[in-house]
Amino acid sequence: MVGGGEGAYIGGIHRFAARLDNHYDLVAGAFDVDAERGHSFASTNFIDRDRSYGDYLAMVAGERTRDDRIDVVAICTPNHTHFPIAKAFLEAGFDVICEKPMTTTVEDAIALHDLAQTTGRFLGVTYTYSGYPMVHEARAMVARGDLGKVRVVQVEYPLEWMATGIELQGNQQAAWRTDPKKNGRGGSIGDIGTHAYHLAGFVSGLKAEAVAADLATFVEGRALDDNAHVMIRYEGGARGLLWSSQVAIGQSNGLRLRVFGEKGSLVWHQEQPNELVFTGLFGAPATIKRGRDDLTDGARIRTRTPPGHPEGYIEAFTNLYSGFAAAIREKESGASAGTFGEGLPSSYDGLKGVAFVDAVVDSHEKHNGGWLSLQFA
Ligand code: NAI
Repeated sequence: MVGGGEGAYIGGIHRFAARLDNHYDLVAGAFDVDAERGHSFASTNFIDRDRSYGDYLAMVAGERTRDDRIDVVAICTPNHTHFPIAKAFLEAGFDVICEKPMTTTVEDAIALHDLAQTTGRFLGVTYTYSGYPMVHEARAMVARGDLGKVRVVQVEYPLEWMATGIELQGNQQAAWRTDPKKNGRGGSIGDIGTHAYHLAGFVSGLKAEAVAADLATFVEGRALDDNAHVMIRYEGGARGLLWSSQVAIGQSNGLRLRVFGEKGSLVWHQEQPNELVFTGLFGAPATIKRGRDDLTDGARIRTRTPPGHPEGYIEAFTNLYSGFAAAIREKESGASAGTFGEGLPSSYDGLKGVAFVDAVVDSHEKHNGGWLSLQFA
């Protein structure tokens, strides 16, 4: 692991997710931007001292020559460091699990995607919400035609935690997220809009063609957007609307997706992730619950406990990790990754997300909210 040290947020979730299905051991890391803090964190996590590295370059150099070298690295650092770290590991022949957004510029995202292709290494991006069983069920229902032709895709990701200037009050996570050099050009749209955009495309199966955006910065002095409204035109004429907000008071983690087709609609809400609501034309809303035997394979294999025992965020993240493990094994041994390997967020999904953010910011900043075609769909 690179990053994810003491006081960090997402690294701990990665460690849970890696352990749950027993596909990974954490054996080496450069856990912190501060080498001493990193070593101290490593020792409390029982990492051998000679595999606790002062920085990621030392880790690449130290690991590449070992007989028992790591198979894959998880990159859990702020956005601006993803590119150099992922590049160094890919070039040294390691597989990579990278946080989103994959990079802070489209040029870097193209380069990283190309590098994964030319080196033949695995590069997965942790779009968490595509790990939920009921999200897979929704995707399968759309693909099966239960909704008919998709007309409208509404996705929203409102959060409240940055409703005030906490970046100036010592909040580590908010500090780098509001610094364009570390976060990239898109504030809320880069941080959580990328999740929403991926989820909408993942479930609807539609490619986005163009965006028109209105960004706002409500907290005084903040350098990046903390609220974004984006209209999306999808292939085949479907229309989308995406709202990302870091200032939506009362919304803890309000990611919600609604897909409307000619024959029915689906609603999925991240805070009630074990349920999916389907409504057929002129029908009553029906709640479909996780864990039932009549769900599709994609939902059933990503489920660990019987119906009524809630599963959530950690299990969804585990599903990504276990999918990545299946994909890496397939590459190494030829054994099929099977259903677990299907729909994994890839380097191309990472590139699409970065290109989406860039087009959204350009639409707002350079075209007065006008329509811009997406380069990668
Ligand atoms: P954080 O600020 O809590 O943690 C960052 C960690 O990286 C710290 O331990 C820091 O010391 C370390 N670090 C920074 N530069 C480093 C370097 N050059 N080498 C080694 N370690 C370094 O940040 P947070 O919130 O955990 O976010 C990290 C990444 O995860 C971001 O890209 C963010 O967008 C993404 N994220 C993804 C989520 C998801 O659902 N997939 C949720 C939250 C964050």
